[in-house]
Amino acid sequence: MKILKFFILFFFIISCNKGIFLSSINSPDNKISLNFTLDNGKPFYSINKGDKIIVSNSSLGLILKNGIDLTKGFKIKNQKQTSFKNNWNPLFGEFKTIENNYNQLSLDLINNETEINIEFRIYNDGVAFRYILPKQKSIQNYDLMDEITEFNLSSKDSAWWIPGFSYRRYEFLYANTGIDDISKKVYSDLVEDISYDSLGIDAAHTPLTIKKNNGIFISIHEANLVDYSSMTLSPKGKGSLEVELYPWSDGIKVKSDNGIKSSWRTIHIADNSSGLLESNLILNLNDDPDEKEDFSWVKPGKYMGVWWEMIGTNESTWWPSKYHGANTKKVFNYIDFASKHGFNGLLVEGWNKGWYPGWCCSGNGIPFSFTESLEDFDFKKISLYSSKKNISIVGHHETGGQIENYESQLEDAFKLYNQMGVKYIKTGYVNDVSRNIKRTDQNGNIIREWHHGQYMINHFHKVIELASKYKLSIITHEPIKDTGLSRTFPNFISREGAKGQEFNGFSSNGVNHATDLPFTRLLSGPMDYTPGIFQLNNFRYDKPGGKIDKNAIVPSTLAKELALYVVYYSPMQMAADLPRHYKKHLRAFDFIKNVPVNWETKIILNSKISEYLTIARKDIDSDNWYVGGITDEKKRNFKINLDFLDESKDYTAKIYKDTSETHWDKNPMEYSIESIKVNKDSKLDVYLAPGGGFAIEIIKN
Ligand code: NOJ
Ligand code: CA
Repeated sequence: MKILKFFILFFFIISCNKGIFLSSINSPDNKISLNFTLDNGKPFYSINKGDKIIVSNSSLGLILKNGIDLTKGFKIKNQKQTSFKNNWNPLFGEFKTIENNYNQLSLDLINNETEINIEFRIYNDGVAFRYILPKQKSIQNYDLMDEITEFNLSSKDSAWWIPGFSYRRYEFLYANTGIDDISKKVYSDLVEDISYDSLGIDAAHTPLTIKKNNGIFISIHEANLVDYSSMTLSPKGKGSLEVELYPWSDGIKVKSDNGIKSSWRTIHIADNSSGLLESNLILNLNDDPDEKEDFSWVKPGKYMGVWWEMIGTNESTWWPSKYHGANTKKVFNYIDFASKHGFNGLLVEGWNKGWYPGWCCSGNGIPFSFTESLEDFDFKKISLYSSKKNISIVGHHETGGQIENYESQLEDAFKLYNQMGVKYIKTGYVNDVSRNIKRTDQNGNIIREWHHGQYMINHFHKVIELASKYKLSIITHEPIKDTGLSRTFPNFISREGAKGQEFNGFSSNGVNHATDLPFTRLLSGPMDYTPGIFQLNNFRYDKPGGKIDKNAIVPSTLAKELALYVVYYSPMQMAADLPRHYKKHLRAFDFIKNVPVNWETKIILNSKISEYLTIARKDIDSDNWYVGGITDEKKRNFKINLDFLDESKDYTAKIYKDTSETHWDKNPMEYSIESIKVNKDSKLDVYLAPGGGFAIEIIKN
């Protein structure tokens, strides 16, 4: 890998007229420009792309406890402009090689005695900045009371958002409104009533996707969130958004006795909706793993699970009962099926003590044990059998959001899994109440924290570091948002962090959610959505041992479920349905068996935000390509141009698609499979049914 790092001389203006200091810096391709100004001691920034305004003059600054106001009264002590360009290869991912190329402006500001550094990085596809408050003599206490970063946009800009400061973390459908309308009231009116749990302010989570009135698309997010609090964006009227950090229960946003380094505030800038999906900004703002750490043991893969039969078909229980899912005999059967079809892992939920019918979701339930198995789950036997069959058990730690209980068992739990040959753990933090993570303070009092504040950021970090010591990869459900830390810790292999497939089991996401996710949640990183449901109706029992619930449907089509393996990136991808449902469609199941999880590159073939999307990806280990396309409730006809194929090669394309009879609601499991010879000049006509999709495997002859 060639690293090119050099200092360059940029064009910049310093003007002291009327107390204004201005410094400007452009992206490497000169298309994006950033202006930093100090106006009578107050710091501001603005961003333009060509002649289009992306962010107009917006405030910067931090406010500490004890009246240390770092929003004004500044002088420039120093400024430095540098440039950086290299290529790096992730251990696995969406691209074999990623370019990291930016110009950086570092400003040392001084306010009385106090020094703070603001760093800006300007990329060809966006801008990032962060605050660094070094440890210094003039400050005794670094408690952060507020970050006042603004993003001044326009009232006419339109946002796709989910509410922050609410009860169910990130598990919400998306609202699409003007920026000024981001509020719990509007969300309750348009999408879902959240008014009964109204702790906290009106704000949106990030990534926040915005279509600007001038046609530009942006995604505001954060990168490298470590030992800080996560940011939400709160509307202040007139198209202005301000950072609101999740506070500790005592109101302090970030606690430190050692200086403060914020996460990067990122603004990804794209000319169209496809451009939104093409950025590596978030990963580029994170570091490679520590040189001393070897993560080559982390393996992407595919897994099945003793899971959908509890959360989806409702025929089994997590807890001990006549219908207990995770019993040795059944686990053996799943291992046989998963092994026969070439999977890497089998998730087993409900294996441990602590499950009972009322386990969910108050944060107050009976604490789980993470080392004791239920009587009918013979861990030793299962471990031996699974290793014989080349299957790793994907262990399961549902914490119920009881962090102290989990942390007190963490090392023992990881040791046990390590001894049993487990390589992956799915963790879970279901606790469906606002600010309800129990914590014991120094005086022994029980207090409650938000799921997204510094306490939890540090918890997730602790888990991932300890897991790497035991060579365990983690798939987190109810996680903290992805800010690209998987570059540094590749064992943070995947996470949920949105309304995933599970909701189609016990309620419904509706038919249009699946096309929202790629333009919103997926912009932050891989998602454990758990695709691959084949039995899309008549699948759910009203209770274990009960009758089929005729009204329950998964609002998708079978061909679209296949498409999701290409459209939604995850290095650990689940085939979520039951073996008996796959047995009915073994030819379609072939696509799930064959589709890779580690890619050389991706190309966005078409898209319209939240309406449709087609992605082509090239396998990293072969010359084969995979294409997935999905639509919302509208049927569509696409012409897929295969000009990305290699000039000199012939291929066979196997196309899995909806038929003219398919419909997400009325007839979801109808599909056709067709094999044809193709090459670089081929153009395929594909029909997508309402709520449907298609998947293509293109194999080099
Ligand atoms: C919620 C998770 O998202 C789901 O996958 C899991 O089965 C349940 N919690 C139980 O842990
Ligand atoms: Ca969940």
